[in-house]
Amino acid sequence: MKFKAPRGTNDILPPATLKWQYIEEKTHEVFSNYNYHEIRTPIFEYTELFQRGIGEVTDIVEKEMYTFEDKGGRSLTLRPEGTASVIRSFLENKIYGQAQPTKYYYIGPMFRYERPQSGRFRQFHQLGVEAIASNDPALDAEIISLGIRLLQKFGLNELELNLNSVGCQECRPDYVAKLKEYLTKNKEQLCDNCKSRIERSPLRVLDCKNKNCQSVINSAPKITENLCSSCDEHFKEVQSYLDILEIDYQINPLLVRGLDYYTNTAFEIKDNALGAQDTIFGGGRYNGLAEEIGNRDVPGIGFALGIERLLLSLEAKDIKLPVEAGVDLYITVIGAKAKRESFKLLDKLRSSGFKTEMDYLDRGVGSQMKSADRMNAEYTIIIGEDELNKNAATIRNMKSGTEKEIKLTNLLEEMKQLVAKEEN
Ligand code: HAM
Repeated sequence: MKFKAPRGTNDILPPATLKWQYIEEKTHEVFSNYNYHEIRTPIFEYTELFQRGIGEVTDIVEKEMYTFEDKGGRSLTLRPEGTASVIRSFLENKIYGQAQPTKYYYIGPMFRYERPQSGRFRQFHQLGVEAIASNDPALDAEIISLGIRLLQKFGLNELELNLNSVGCQECRPDYVAKLKEYLTKNKEQLCDNCKSRIERSPLRVLDCKNKNCQSVINSAPKITENLCSSCDEHFKEVQSYLDILEIDYQINPLLVRGLDYYTNTAFEIKDNALGAQDTIFGGGRYNGLAEEIGNRDVPGIGFALGIERLLLSLEAKDIKLPVEAGVDLYITVIGAKAKRESFKLLDKLRSSGFKTEMDYLDRGVGSQMKSADRMNAEYTIIIGEDELNKNAATIRNMKSGTEKEIKLTNLLEEMKQLVAKEEN
């Protein structure tokens, strides 16, 4: 085959699409239960929205963006994440003029030029939430509990929550200066990658998995011990609200996120069964982002969950989502005359809500029965010359194999009763 889907992208085919639909349905259900409303923003934005040039340098913005020039010479970027777009939209549409806080969620594809591997793709899908215009630590706990509740709906109950506070514009610069000084002193023990990060993004050093770096990192100054009093207070409050909800967490002062806008609360839920790409969802506060994007002091908090990773986690635990492919009824056709009658019946059954299929390949009865089996049909309706002459059809229960002749005029009513009985 000459053509392949681009590296790092996936075709999602049936029956797997049923799982995606199930996840999306549950997401709509759970998020609206928490009073979050769906927002749909463009897949591409002006590049400057993501490349704001403030804060730490991050790989996502520096190396991983799909950026291109359109025919009008504008620089556009396929969105690598959803938060910046949501805040842009909140500001552009003056949502701040309405009753607050604003609670939004989104589901959709994101794009990052990363090295593809298990759980890491170039086009992947996130479902995410953003709660805007409140700095209430109870909302931090709500956001976290919302993510956990959603995972529970899919049968994922025992995943570890890592929690940190990354401080604010007041206390973080002092901490970063302290960290830089410490890392510079211990530079010789660090890997080349970390060495190069000391100046450009010292916080990312804390994320290095290299063994030698680990011992330096473990003795590094901790952000949680360098918070200003208001950040410290906020962090304690978040914990107390999580305690009220009886949500277990692990405070991890080494947790740093891959985007530059975080302030205060940062969190991640990991599944160790997933290997290197083990974070199912992550997020935090971004109280300075609206200022950067639109000169407005509006706090916010949110998270995003990787749908592909959620599916991998379910697979690793052998959890099957309750989805079913197939049909209720299959019409087995014998002969050209019967086909016309069947085609009419097919339409009637479908319009009455039965998932129904018939043969379109002129196959023999045996093959048609096999198709019915493959589609998990509860009943097949057999219509041939004999039946037509009697204005009837034979109904076969595919599980028990029992057959019954029914007048075509009564067929719809009978099927309703039979299928209802089956479902009870
Ligand atoms: P993020 O940590 O960059 O945060 O991504 C969130 C989640 O998206 C990850 O935990 C992971 O499950 C999934 N993910 C990220 N990159 C990939 C990839 N290349 N392939 C597959 N899955 C991936 C954000 O995007 C923030 N916008 C989250 C947020 C919302 N913070 C505040 N509000």
